[in-house]
Amino acid sequence: MELLKAAIASELAGQPGFAALGLGAEKIAENLSRPPKPEMGDLAFSCFRPAKELNRKPPELAAALATGAASRNLVQKLEPAGPYLNLRLNRAACASAVLAAVEQACAGALPKDWRYGDGQAGCGRTLVLDFSSPNIAKPLAVHHLRSTMIGYSIKCIRESQGWRVVGINHLGDWGTGFGKLIAGLKQYFPDVAGRALAGDERPLGDMTVQQLNETYARFNRESKENEALAEQGRQEFALLERHIEALMADSSHDAVADGGVNFRIWEHAREISLAEFERMYAHLGLSFHLWPVVDLEHKRVLTEEPQAFYRAHGLYVGESYYVTAEDLCRRLIADAVNSKVAEESEGALVIYTHGKDKPPLMLVKDDGATSYHARDMAAALYRKRHWQCDEMAYVVGGEQKLHFEQLFRALQALGHEWAGRCAHVDFGLMMFLQPDGKWAKASTRKGTAIMLEDLLDEAVAAVRDIIARKNPDLAASPDAERIARAVGVGAVVFNDLKNGRRNNVKFDWDAVLDFEGESGPYMQYQYVRMGSVTAKYRERYGEPVFENGDAALLTLPEEWAIVQQLAEFPGALRRAAEELEPSLVAKALVDLAAAASTWWTATKDTRIVGDDPALSLARLRLVNGIRRVLGRGLTLLGMDLVERM
Ligand code: ARG
Repeated sequence: MELLKAAIASELAGQPGFAALGLGAEKIAENLSRPPKPEMGDLAFSCFRPAKELNRKPPELAAALATGAASRNLVQKLEPAGPYLNLRLNRAACASAVLAAVEQACAGALPKDWRYGDGQAGCGRTLVLDFSSPNIAKPLAVHHLRSTMIGYSIKCIRESQGWRVVGINHLGDWGTGFGKLIAGLKQYFPDVAGRALAGDERPLGDMTVQQLNETYARFNRESKENEALAEQGRQEFALLERHIEALMADSSHDAVADGGVNFRIWEHAREISLAEFERMYAHLGLSFHLWPVVDLEHKRVLTEEPQAFYRAHGLYVGESYYVTAEDLCRRLIADAVNSKVAEESEGALVIYTHGKDKPPLMLVKDDGATSYHARDMAAALYRKRHWQCDEMAYVVGGEQKLHFEQLFRALQALGHEWAGRCAHVDFGLMMFLQPDGKWAKASTRKGTAIMLEDLLDEAVAAVRDIIARKNPDLAASPDAERIARAVGVGAVVFNDLKNGRRNNVKFDWDAVLDFEGESGPYMQYQYVRMGSVTAKYRERYGEPVFENGDAALLTLPEEWAIVQQLAEFPGALRRAAEELEPSLVAKALVDLAAAASTWWTATKDTRIVGDDPALSLARLRLVNGIRRVLGRGLTLLGMDLVERM
């Protein structure tokens, strides 16, 4: 009701009783709420707090506020009841105000242009949002869906409130693991090194991410029992790091030949991974852009904002960037040492962020390599400086809670007070039902991770099947594949976003694909249904002019319930932006869809579009409001809408 509350509050502020006591619209809005029983009124103004401030008794204040009446539109009656002032609203005027607000904000034909619920709180402010952020040389597994979709949705939601949001895909493309990968590739695929040595820029040929991952896993296994292999892995990584340092250094120091080989292998592995990630993201309707462009050959970093930034949903900035370019990591480490924030411990450099008796943050490992933490600290400094951001948020699973607590504390210890405005946007696990009837973390019977692509493909195939059974005409149309994709992927996405992000997501195929429950397909279906009624109206009465629909004809309680739901949406969106919580938007849509469905049943006999043209148009106006708000909300959740299903 936020939208209505604000309008009602300003109307009340003009009433003699309120004006005489100097109660302004804002103060009034704060004390308006829905009474416990609808018989009491549509809204109630609570006098407790204002009475205290004005030094009066609440019932006395309620009576005083009800006196005199200037012209009113939204409020019909003021009735003092003890410490409350109950309001009866002019429902037709309220409905008309809400519907007009939706119509004005959603004038265009395409959902992506609909703006209902937009706010200004973030105007002129920048949020750097770290999301998705997978590791290269590993396929995307189901748990990557969560960071990707929660993150993308938060990006859209914050943008709706005026924020500039810079999406950063913090690619895990650096660390000692890549030494093992390179050692494994050299060991098991002798051609690879030969090709890299000969200057081939694609030394890995047609290798897939899956193969890279298997190579790493095999070497990792074997090196656990073989110290010589383990040492080889460390060596390969050291070569890679030294090569890059040499490339970036001012001296014309020639990079070591072996380092060049490793560099080429690493670069190609990253390229292969990015190509596969992009293919994967495309299933979700997303795309990222590699940035900044590091031109190692000319020792330059091209950091102008590329046009691509505005087209892509975010930028890939690999962890390697902070190590290889501008020497961000080394400078950070030097700073931590000089300021005595970091100290030596068993050959490593650490920061005690939580006191001496708790494990410290590892800054530099005992073999001299930079750590995940060091790269994250350098990344934060870079983001603050380069994007001049007001806030930073990291959409990363709850298992990294300690990592982020340590990160923020270490930054503060170095004097960066803004680290207090960094947030870890944590989330729960994806759980799957196992054959033994228990819920377990995303893994199959064999104990291997479930690939995201397999899961999405399965969802799309299931929807394709349902369409073939229930709607053979549609199945035969050229749109069928796009629709199956939008509904199938949307089903998985909605299932992910509908509950508070900190909860674990129980992935149960029946619930995910349920066309009746609180599911993606159901939300899509409600949207489609609103479109079909509109088409039906058009056939019978011609092109509707929604503004001409007379809200006074919307007299059913079910219709008032929908108006209230529509009025709730802007508040839900604002709170979702504040709390970085997409489920608040999903919840508002679920409630709206439920209200719409109840209305559908209630109008079974008279129909939405029936014999009375005026009533039909009034109802169609409400249909249009529902459709626009559903469309806007689902788009904010990163779902692709369909016109039929
Ligand atoms: N690559 C990491 C992983 O897969 C997630 C990175 C999250 N972002 C960050 N700035 N640490 O676990």
